[in-house]
Amino acid sequence: MVDLTGLQSWQALARHARDTSQEHLSELFRQDTQRYQRFSAEACGLLLDYSKNRVTQETLNLLLDLARERDVEAWRERMFAGEPINLTEHRAVLHTALRAHPDRPVTVSGEDVMPAVARVLAQMRRFTDAVRSGEWTGYTGKRITDVVNIGIGGSDLGPRLATEALIPFASRQLRCHFVSNIDPSHMIETLAPLSPETTLFIVASKTFTTQETMTNAQLARDWLLKQVADERAVARHFVALSTNADAVSEFGILPENMFEFWDWVGGRYSLWSAIGLPIALSVGMDNFEQMLAGARCMDEHFRSAPLETNLPVIMAMLGIWYIGFFDAHSHAVMPYDQYLRILPAYLQQLDMESNGKSVCRDGRPVDGSTGPIIWGQAGTNGQHAFYQLIHQGTRLIPADFIMSAHSQHELEHQHEQLISNCLAQTEALAFGREDSAIVAELEQQGLDADAVAALLPHKRFAGNHPTNTILMDELNPYSLGVLIALYEHKVFVQGIIWNVNSFDQWGVELGKKLALAIQDELQSGKPVSTHDSSTNALINEYLKRRHKS
Ligand code: F6P
Repeated sequence: MVDLTGLQSWQALARHARDTSQEHLSELFRQDTQRYQRFSAEACGLLLDYSKNRVTQETLNLLLDLARERDVEAWRERMFAGEPINLTEHRAVLHTALRAHPDRPVTVSGEDVMPAVARVLAQMRRFTDAVRSGEWTGYTGKRITDVVNIGIGGSDLGPRLATEALIPFASRQLRCHFVSNIDPSHMIETLAPLSPETTLFIVASKTFTTQETMTNAQLARDWLLKQVADERAVARHFVALSTNADAVSEFGILPENMFEFWDWVGGRYSLWSAIGLPIALSVGMDNFEQMLAGARCMDEHFRSAPLETNLPVIMAMLGIWYIGFFDAHSHAVMPYDQYLRILPAYLQQLDMESNGKSVCRDGRPVDGSTGPIIWGQAGTNGQHAFYQLIHQGTRLIPADFIMSAHSQHELEHQHEQLISNCLAQTEALAFGREDSAIVAELEQQGLDADAVAALLPHKRFAGNHPTNTILMDELNPYSLGVLIALYEHKVFVQGIIWNVNSFDQWGVELGKKLALAIQDELQSGKPVSTHDSSTNALINEYLKRRHKS
């Protein structure tokens, strides 16, 4: 495959970037009164306003030429068709099958996977109904009041995001907790207020070998047995979500309490699978299926809409533009919705584990930058922390602002304060403030000319900072499904443009291996000399301090 920078469309974009890089959003809006109409699109109830980006119609045409030259449409079909596009792991990438219409077959290696998907959904429905109704009890016959999900990465972030986002739809009789960190404090503090008789543990791990999850699951098991003192209790208090049936049964979880998924579901794309069980327990299976329906709508839009109005494609190509031609290293996500506060963390894994790559699919180094650093924070908190850097710092930080028309609460006035802040930020970022307005304000405050001249550079708002704004009617299971699938497909399209495999994550392996070796050394308690001088010294110093009485 031709290197990215060797493509005709890339070179055309490079020339266009040179010619237009100084254009200011204020000027672009002045020149075109229809700019919002031209650069906004809607799908599945979600409005994307991308008019506050540093693009013209020509930029977008060139970006879509690039998408076509990189064969995005063909790759999209290969994904939906179940081809093994995860080359290094020889796997299909079919999280879309988990939310596909049950009557339409989706085949992997010649086998229709939809009956298995339907079977697990039915198993999830039976189980969640039983737990939520109180029919499923703990070992001593008490109703389950607390669910603790033990998982990490994709086996934590997706369900945690959705469970938190959908709190207004949740059963208040069942509290969901998430333990991920190997730091025992996480489990200990979570369990402290809970009763083993009324707690259900979900051990969520695709591989069922992940150190953090297996260690924490064992800790939870010990906690339960310490108080219930009967091994049979494990069957009433532990269920597993995994692809690894053997390891699950070895742990002592009954086969009927295992909810299966498959190797064609990537960890960071797994909340739609059995990994979504805590979501279903919290909000009920009907709401979980609404979330799947929202994602399905976005899948259909992504698969069929022309590139010109295709929301994931547009967002992806805007990101390519800033990373490729403006040296933008990061991308901020600002949900103006407290219920979406986990979204930046969730998108960190989705985007950075997928596209944080430096080799192409064929193993050659990529030419240019790939996935950005994803960061952000919910609501107005960021305004009082890091927005200063976005407004007046030296870096270009494209950002997504997300908001809903309806609040989950009746405090409309306060919701409007929230939304005003969101809109004000995108306005300020795009247009900044004219020097003349700053000067007039300072003069009105009685400052003399020298003082005005001295202050002006510090008070200057240059603007021209690009943003997308995403507007939903309200945050509910359906719109959440739409939103998450939008980002999944955006990441997919960018991976195709950069020609990387977005579905493996070899970069997480080395640290895991080294940690196991170091763990043995720490346990032996003997000074070490086999590492570099820094690591040796730190291990030895740690041991010295640890064993000091
Ligand atoms: O961090 C690496 C990773 O493999 C993620 O991709 C995955 O989501 C996470 O670990 C957890 O893996 P598992 O579900 O197998 O425990």
